[in-house]
Amino acid sequence: MSRSRVLTGITTTGTPHLGNYVGAIRPAVADSHDESIDSFFFLADYHALIKCQDPAQVHQSAREIAATWLALGLDTTKSTFYRQSDVPEVLELNWILSCVCAKGLMNRAHAYKAAVQDNEGKGEDADFGITMGLFSYPVLMAADILAFNADKVPVGRDQIQHIEMARDMAQRFNHLFGETFTLPEAVVDDNVAVLSGLDGRKMSKSYGNTIPLFLPEKKLQKHINKIKTNLLEPGEPKDPDDSTVFQIWQAFATPAETAEMRQRFADGIGWGDAKKALFALINDQIGEARQRYEEILQDGAYLDDELRKGAERARAEAAALLDKARKAVGLSRFA
Ligand code: TRP
Repeated sequence: MSRSRVLTGITTTGTPHLGNYVGAIRPAVADSHDESIDSFFFLADYHALIKCQDPAQVHQSAREIAATWLALGLDTTKSTFYRQSDVPEVLELNWILSCVCAKGLMNRAHAYKAAVQDNEGKGEDADFGITMGLFSYPVLMAADILAFNADKVPVGRDQIQHIEMARDMAQRFNHLFGETFTLPEAVVDDNVAVLSGLDGRKMSKSYGNTIPLFLPEKKLQKHINKIKTNLLEPGEPKDPDDSTVFQIWQAFATPAETAEMRQRFADGIGWGDAKKALFALINDQIGEARQRYEEILQDGAYLDDELRKGAERARAEAAALLDKARKAVGLSRFA
């Protein structure tokens, strides 16, 4: 049995936050050390252009994300870590897939449909503000995945549809031109917590309710202090299962620590004390990585070097497959 190949991309438009850490980065870094997994992780910087036309932000976000993954101990000898834009084969495949992807399939993509609905709700033209990038974004994502014949794609629930579309494109291509692409599978880990943010909704950049992962200590405590709670006083029993503070605690604590905190909630721990404890727990776990992060963030040459090595390995893989795909559709030398 060959090793299963796991691949996932991170869109470079924001600063990594606790939700990204718990939901995606921590499990991915763990996978990178696992000999039985052949992992590919990349900065989806072409995807960033769909949502963000601020070059400074796209650039800075890529830097922060790369530094974060490396600071947290991603093993770049075992896993392949690269910038999407360093692998031109992905864009070549993007075009080839565009030519087998039904437009009707893209009409059904959630992100596009939501944009159209939003326009209609505002009485705008249905196409207002919608670029071809947004419309055909699932094709680029399919190219990301199929260019490496990935078996498994760890994603959030909101991305499942895109993986299904990638399967669809792979199937269509294979049917027309012969077995070429592996059909990828979405992996949604139900054991991984989806963290709540400051306001109690899912922690997400688009809600502006995040706690950035590598804040300086004082700021981290300040952010934690802003987590919304109810008005119960110290001494009054509190419901842990209805509390963002407890939910985040659980994502960082051992089962024993979680049981202990559950008891303290029942005993009426004050919100101030609970938040202090939460700060200490998180700070303990990420303190060392934060120090490395600060150093790596300043070391552009190191970042570039790591990403260049990754891109070389990624390109070697993708080039072989692209060769096959080009031939399959009739693009090849005459002699
Ligand atoms: N679109 C994904 C997101 O927003 C990021 C992404 C881009 C991705 N290409 C990918 C994820 C390929 C998995 C595989 O989260």
